[in-house]
Amino acid sequence: MNDKEIILKLENISKTFYGTHALTNVNFEVRKGEIHALLGENGAGKSTLLNILSGAFPSDSGDIYLCGKKINIKTPLEAKKLGINKVSQELQLIPELSVGQNICLGSEPMSKLLKTIHWSKLHQQANRILSMLGADFESRDPVSGLSTAQMQIVEIAKALKEKSVVLALDEPTSSLTFVEIERLFKILKELRNSGTAIIYVTHRLDEVFEIADRVTVLRDGKYMGTFNVKEVSKSFLIKLMVGREIAEEIRPTLKKNIGEVILEVRDVPSKGNFKASFYLRKGEILGFAGLVGAGRTELIRKIFGADFRKGGIIFLRNKKIKIKSPRDAVRNGIAFLPEDRKRQGFVPLLTNCSNICLPQLPSLSLFGIMRRNKMAKRAFEVINALRIVPPDIEKPTRDLSGGNQQKVVLGKWLSPKYQIMIFDEPTRGIDVGAKAEIHKLMHDLASEGRSIIMISSELSEILLMSDRIIVMREGKIMGELMREEASEEKLLKLAMGVA
Ligand SMILES: Nc1ncnc2c1ncn2[C@@H]1O[C@H](COP(=O)(O)OP(=O)(O)OP(=O)(O)O)[C@@H](O)[C@H]1O
Ligand SMILES: [Mg+2]
Repeated sequence: MNDKEIILKLENISKTFYGTHALTNVNFEVRKGEIHALLGENGAGKSTLLNILSGAFPSDSGDIYLCGKKINIKTPLEAKKLGINKVSQELQLIPELSVGQNICLGSEPMSKLLKTIHWSKLHQQANRILSMLGADFESRDPVSGLSTAQMQIVEIAKALKEKSVVLALDEPTSSLTFVEIERLFKILKELRNSGTAIIYVTHRLDEVFEIADRVTVLRDGKYMGTFNVKEVSKSFLIKLMVGREIAEEIRPTLKKNIGEVILEVRDVPSKGNFKASFYLRKGEILGFAGLVGAGRTELIRKIFGADFRKGGIIFLRNKKIKIKSPRDAVRNGIAFLPEDRKRQGFVPLLTNCSNICLPQLPSLSLFGIMRRNKMAKRAFEVINALRIVPPDIEKPTRDLSGGNQQKVVLGKWLSPKYQIMIFDEPTRGIDVGAKAEIHKLMHDLASEGRSIIMISSELSEILLMSDRIIVMREGKIMGELMREEASEEKLLKLAMGVA
């Protein structure tokens, strides 16, 4: 086997969406048995390239060669038949079906005699892949009850079930924590060693150095080059992606004024029959760390009123408050950025302007009539502040790249009305530059005296941003660390429950 053999070649690929040049003459080659990282800012064209490759839509021009033969992929099914499989950036599962049905969709094992689906075999097959990925749920579980991270694991399992010549993964780890990521990496390395060509999209640059052999960078839909990972540095890649020098991380140096307790949560029922109690101070960023399934989102959603809560008391500025629905929370000045932006964060068909202004419609309308100028002004402020690309207030949010959608969702809550902000994975899927901007924004919000609860699956983000860290494991608060005493090792030990 010649390991330099080129399995996949994309030549001069271009794609335009209503005047937006998503890709311009992009070239891209993947070798047999390599993990090839594909990098670029939000909106650089990574998903577009993978969508063309996987038959989601055609390119405007350009050619694709698989094993030296020119191919013409018209549908996802055709791509699959050629051995091209993809883990999508956005979750595309059918919630009404079980995990196993989703994983085996379209390739269900049939019983020979009866010509019906062989259910026990189906679940067996699915469970085998799930256990490789270390999933804490089973094939027969309904997808509707899974968390975002768990759904991401199902998406990965779906692609791993097929035998791939080319396996493309579009930000597969954006909701996962290190334990799941390590398992995935182990599987990917095995696949690489057996000859699969793997394309890996991520915004977590450390992952590139951990797993990839080569890396290709896109900027504004243009091909910037391909490199051996061993021969480049992180700052070189960032510069190539962004086109300018940026500080990769802001280390908040400013000494903040952390004030009195503003929110207190007492005995709120948590996963696994535990009760959770904690407090949040004025001007504080309180990080919530834990592995997938730790119950962080579940707890926070109950506090915000998004899910039913039985028992527990919430105090706002020492006064007991009732939160029965998100409306109650919003009325009390609490904002919530959910982790699953597509299903809970924005209305897909509405324009950026409408989505950004949604929570403030009462103050932007007069006698029930929306004041369009005021709305447009507000939307532009947010678009500029967060550098949303394209800076178009009339574009439906659905048509933005994943990371830019996330910024729209974040932008909804920037009004000073919200003194307590709950961010569930605020930088999920956000590129390095924008991530630094969002971190700075969070830091500024806290310096202004707002209080932030941040759930993050990225340990480095937790350590960088939090003034104090609560670590959860399977519903239980395992401990609390102040910024000064926190370290990756201490967090991991608490999260995994090892003394
Ligand atoms: N269906 C669509 N309709 C209109 N414009 C689109 C559509 N899909 C993508 N675009 C535009 O094409 C460009 C490239 O988007 P793409 O999703 O490929 O970016 P990306 O590199 O995957 O970004 P991210 O890191 O945010 O996922 C963006 O400007 C985006 O707004
Ligand atoms: Mg994308």
